Amino acid sequence: MKIGIFDSGLGGLAIAKAAFKALPKYDYIYLGDTKNLPYGQKSPQEIYRHTQKAVEFLFAQNCQLIIIACNTSSAWALRKIQQEYLPKAYPKRRVLGVIIPTLEEADYQHRRKKIGVIGTTATVKSHIYKKELIKIDSSAKIYELATPRLVPLIEQNALQKAVKSLELYLKPLQKQGIEALVLGCTHYPFLKNECKKILGKEVAIVSQDEIIPKKLGKYLKRHQEIENKLGESRSRNFFVTKLNKDFEEVAKRLFGKKIKFELAKY
Ligand code: DGL
Repeated sequence: MKIGIFDSGLGGLAIAKAAFKALPKYDYIYLGDTKNLPYGQKSPQEIYRHTQKAVEFLFAQNCQLIIIACNTSSAWALRKIQQEYLPKAYPKRRVLGVIIPTLEEADYQHRRKKIGVIGTTATVKSHIYKKELIKIDSSAKIYELATPRLVPLIEQNALQKAVKSLELYLKPLQKQGIEALVLGCTHYPFLKNECKKILGKEVAIVSQDEIIPKKLGKYLKRHQEIENKLGESRSRNFFVTKLNKDFEEVAKRLFGKKIKFELAKY
């Protein structure tokens, strides 16, 4: 069986690439819901509906374990999928999110007190980062900021425009004197170096491509009953719900080679 990695679009490819490198022996399937992107502007009901369909598709492709790499889906759909959908539909399979693992890392690694979080409008509206981080460190100060212009620009491979928007977005967080910035959206690792340039060395950048593969490795060590079911033929398949030239370019730049995308019909 396989490991599924799901995102609303292409952002999750950065996490997929890092997972392939850290845990290369497994079989992976990537799914980007490019037809319905952006999730960040949708209602909680819509986010749940699209996420559940994507999970269903990945299970039908023989995934034992799915990582919901999309923060927006992790914020609004993960709990219901884990608590209501899975026990009924696939009790022996697992779905994991990205928000709690990211915060655990942000806390223990950096021990910073003033933490900025950027994400989609829906993720910021959920205040999930704030609520969860306070549980880990009640003295932390969290500054959440929605940065909705970034995802469409990244998907269109318009990185220069994205950097311009990023500079404007980060100004108020800089004024607050943040000590760490959590990139709370799968697309933002594409702008990691730009964040470092804008904010300087003093501000720690918490980027999910550096965190999730490590956490996945630890999870698989702890859960041998899941690990034992995973195939080890190093296969990689990439699905999207809508094919498009721009993101083929994005994927090519990321992986350094052409990636073959198949159309997921569901
Ligand atoms: N991938 C989503 C996330 O991590 C953002 C993109 C979208 O708005 O669909 O939050």
